[in-house]
Amino acid sequence: AVTRNYKFNVVMKKETHLCSSKPIVTVNGRFPGPTLHAREGDNVLVNVVNNVKYNVTIHWHGVRQLRTGWADGPAYITQCPIRPGQSYVYNFTLTGQRGTLLWHAHILWLRATVHGAIVIKPKPRVPYPFPKPHKEVVVILGEWWKSDTEAVINQAMKSGLAPNVSDAHTINGHPGPMSTCATSQDGFKLQVDSGKTYMLRIINAALNEELFFKVAGHKLTVVEVDAAYTKPFATSTVLIAPGQTTNVLLSADQSAGRYLVTASPFMDTPIVAVDNKTATATVHYANAVSTSAMTTTLPPPQNATPVASSFVDSLRSLDSGTYPAKVPRTVDHSLLFAVGMGVNPCPTCANGSRVVAGINNVTFVMPTTALLQAHYFGVGGVFTADFPGRPPVAFNYSGSGPKNLQTTSGTRLYRLAYNSTVQVVLQDTGVIAPENHPIHLHGFNFFAVGRGTGNYDAKASPSGFNLVDPVERNTIGVPSGGWTAIRFRADNPGVWFLHCHLEVHTTWGLKMAFLVDNGKGPNQSLLPPPSDLPTC
Ligand code: C2O
Repeated sequence: AVTRNYKFNVVMKKETHLCSSKPIVTVNGRFPGPTLHAREGDNVLVNVVNNVKYNVTIHWHGVRQLRTGWADGPAYITQCPIRPGQSYVYNFTLTGQRGTLLWHAHILWLRATVHGAIVIKPKPRVPYPFPKPHKEVVVILGEWWKSDTEAVINQAMKSGLAPNVSDAHTINGHPGPMSTCATSQDGFKLQVDSGKTYMLRIINAALNEELFFKVAGHKLTVVEVDAAYTKPFATSTVLIAPGQTTNVLLSADQSAGRYLVTASPFMDTPIVAVDNKTATATVHYANAVSTSAMTTTLPPPQNATPVASSFVDSLRSLDSGTYPAKVPRTVDHSLLFAVGMGVNPCPTCANGSRVVAGINNVTFVMPTTALLQAHYFGVGGVFTADFPGRPPVAFNYSGSGPKNLQTTSGTRLYRLAYNSTVQVVLQDTGVIAPENHPIHLHGFNFFAVGRGTGNYDAKASPSGFNLVDPVERNTIGVPSGGWTAIRFRADNPGVWFLHCHLEVHTTWGLKMAFLVDNGKGPNQSLLPPPSDLPTC
């Protein structure tokens, strides 16, 4: 293992898309930002220097941060922000993980433009559990707003209404050859040689949209998600939620030519053609002429739920001798989290009410000092450890029955003993409209042991759980109008955020945190904070 040193200079940069320019916050002047390269077991040091007018933090999404919660990054959860003119060195080790993850700003809506890839190769001389690809390529999906994203969310919070949606999606920073103002040669181009196989490390860094990813005329073989190997399976459509990563193998096995790549939103229906919201790119065979006709593909049809379900149901953990799936068989904490939207009164808002979101009818309130610091130094009055393990009242999530729209506010955490096992059933409430919620847990990988439509049934549903080879990940889509069950072992002491990775839902309060106690044995305690940890 070696130490990798990076410098992330947070600076403004002018960027032009869709015929208009605006200044954006970037790392090192790049959009998307630089790729962090390392191997499993390496120690990573990233010196983040804040040269913009906003407070900044960076999160290493999916990195376990075993005992190093100080380097996790969510503002006011594990650290106070890095203020303008200041810097902070994130210091962490990549333990037991290899694959693709992402890093992104974890404050305000800066994630819109402050994000990039983390590529973790296996340890030296350790092969992939699949044939070595000829080349590996990072493919980052994103969203582009013509207006300033901070203004978009500030305006929405003032009005109590939903914010404007983005103007386009992007592939490696470009809306692509089919977008407004583009020429057919614009956008990201993947050059391939006939007969060779390529590994695409696909990352969804979009703020608010689950995306479908397709390459016209080609099947994609999924081999890894969220830096955990999967049983390989071939598909023509990949579903990827914000915060998720997916490695696929693409074989250049078609006739030489040009093939359209699309990233299209799941929730925005109907989609009947490649429209302005769909990001495009090109797979270009080396021996094809650049003016040859483009083979195109259409995004999934108007009702894309079956396409989404079939993709999710195909995901299995590799579960081999070298990479066993360590699924907790028993459960110490069995939790039911109702996740969804609500409406609270708001006398100053345009409608007299405001859209909120919550878990078990609690809208999480961000503290003004970091929770991990309050926990470690024993500062009282910052949070309570009484987050409800189930919804306050039982009701029918699939539609009929009493509606339960209002939430209460609080900075409430759920406390776990070291090494206890946890099952969380994430139930979409659908009280306003059923929505997909990509729920992300910091500090852990979990196993997705079950999912279903309608109401979770505590008696019947568990009989269908997969406790053998369920997919292991850090972000899971809660199906619209349904539920998903996850299990993990609380083997990482600290304060760990759980939230919807649709940024607008996080802003509205769809978030909470687990507090995991230190263990009694050696190497079971949170390490002391680094000396340059920012203060609030
Ligand atoms: Cu990718 Cu808490 O975030």
